[in-house]
Amino acid sequence: MTNLSPASLRRELRTKLIGQNILYHPVTSSTMDVAKQAVKEEAEEGTIVLADHQTAGRGRFGRSWWAPPESSILLSIILRPKLEELPGIGMAASLAVVRCIEKTTGLKPVIKWPNDIIIEGKKVCGHLIESEVDQETVNSAVLGIGLNVNLDPSLIPEIAETATSLKEVLGEEVSRLEILRTLLVEFDELYHALRQGEPIAKLWRHRLETLGQQVTVKSGPQIWQGYAESVDRDGSLLLRRPDGSLLTIAAGDVTLQV
Ligand code: BTN
Repeated sequence: MTNLSPASLRRELRTKLIGQNILYHPVTSSTMDVAKQAVKEEAEEGTIVLADHQTAGRGRFGRSWWAPPESSILLSIILRPKLEELPGIGMAASLAVVRCIEKTTGLKPVIKWPNDIIIEGKKVCGHLIESEVDQETVNSAVLGIGLNVNLDPSLIPEIAETATSLKEVLGEEVSRLEILRTLLVEFDELYHALRQGEPIAKLWRHRLETLGQQVTVKSGPQIWQGYAESVDRDGSLLLRRPDGSLLTIAAGDVTLQV
């Protein structure tokens, strides 16, 4: 396996904004921490932070993010959206990952609400957004994406049952560099579209496998069951409960009821 050095990435990277500035670390705690430090040092919008290995990678809800060295795409992107664009960032990221995987591998991933990317029922990619908002102004939003490219989930007990990778599904090693270049191009286009006011939410909604299903949603200590009826414009899930009421859920983990 090869590392993701900036020199190789810059070659043939056709983006306008995303990845014009690249901060690369063979090993770091978390690309989120590096990106946040770079925000403090006024790194330009679109700056990406890449690592081949994280010693303290993190996921949503304070979970750990597991990836053996040089097995995955571990990426953070520094953004400065307007407040009203913030909910669209996760949608644009999910769509970019789906399109990237389709283009590079021919696989057909789906999105599990809110933003897990699923192939053959298992998670191949997740992302999180850590933003700093002051009154009505977003000072920064750091988007972190972890995409399992060549990892073998069976070697990591914590994710062995729930995760997959492109290599596992395809049965052969995949070029991380090619996936990364395609992902950055797709996100570059979708982020631009979002900023132009284009209906990203509609595109995202069409890719959600969760809608129209009976689901269980866990959010912290709370658990709800019901019918995943729709999503609102901010991406919150509208859950029809057995008593007929409609619940709006901003964040959580969904499992399908069988
Ligand atoms: C999730 O599904 O819980 C989100 C996972 C996000 C993981 C990525 S890996 C690159 C970046 N650095 C981190 O520490 N986390 C994100």
